[in-house]
Amino acid sequence: MENYKTVAESQTTLTELMIPSYANFGGKIHGGIIMGLMDKVAYVCAAKHAGAYCVTASVDAIDFLAPVEVGELISLMASVNYVSNTSLVVGIRVISENVKTKEVKHTNTSYFTMVAMDEHRSTVQVPGLILKSDEEIRRFFQAFHKKELKKYLRMEEKRMKNEFEIAESIEIIKNERCIIEMEPSAPAPLKTIPGAAEKS
Ligand SMILES: CC(C)(COP(=O)(O)OP(=O)(O)OC[C@H]1O[C@@H](n2cnc3c(N)ncnc32)[C@H](O)[C@@H]1OP(=O)(O)O)[C@@H](O)C(=O)NCCC(=O)NCCS
Repeated sequence: MENYKTVAESQTTLTELMIPSYANFGGKIHGGIIMGLMDKVAYVCAAKHAGAYCVTASVDAIDFLAPVEVGELISLMASVNYVSNTSLVVGIRVISENVKTKEVKHTNTSYFTMVAMDEHRSTVQVPGLILKSDEEIRRFFQAFHKKELKKYLRMEEKRMKNEFEIAESIEIIKNERCIIEMEPSAPAPLKTIPGAAEKS
């Protein structure tokens, strides 16, 4: 029988204290530190579900909703939202907590697509997912829907590149905050018609 696992079996929470060396010039926690921790928790969650080594194939947009201060605790909660054949999507919610005031902020949410691999770096099938609540069904459906949207976006991007029209594009962006300063194009080299020189 095919292997299936529940979402709970691989759910992972990582908590880390934000120390001064993680801060940027503005005194807030560097975005890259949080992104690195997100990748780490995504790996743990994916590898637990897959029972295999996993690599990060793609990361959805990461919006920083609130700054994180030195001394706060951040917790990253990860769960498998969707599985396909060899890939799966891990949803990660990040919160930060001020231990003195008990204030809790939602700082990020993002989705990581991870691919399972064997020791020869060949992709391997991941177990299916047992969905046990409305929330888990909603997350699975949302990830499935997003995958379809990404496919469509990729096709659109390709189409736009192939059918790019300079004059039409300039017209569309004319009210954006840009100045077009193109160098006048060099005159096209004169074509030499064989034998023309002799005739004139
Ligand atoms: C991710 C990777 C294994 C995919 O390899 P590939 O030759 O494209 O493999 P396949 O075409 O067989 O795709 C395997 C799965 O990955 C998925 N996938 C590949 N690229 C993807 C992307 N950019 N976004 C989402 N899913 C992707 C495919 O849809 C497929 O999923 P499925 O089997 O569930 O349908 C390969 O591109 C790779 O090794 N990338 C580098 C990963 C890495 O170094 N990450 C950072 C450090 S961990």
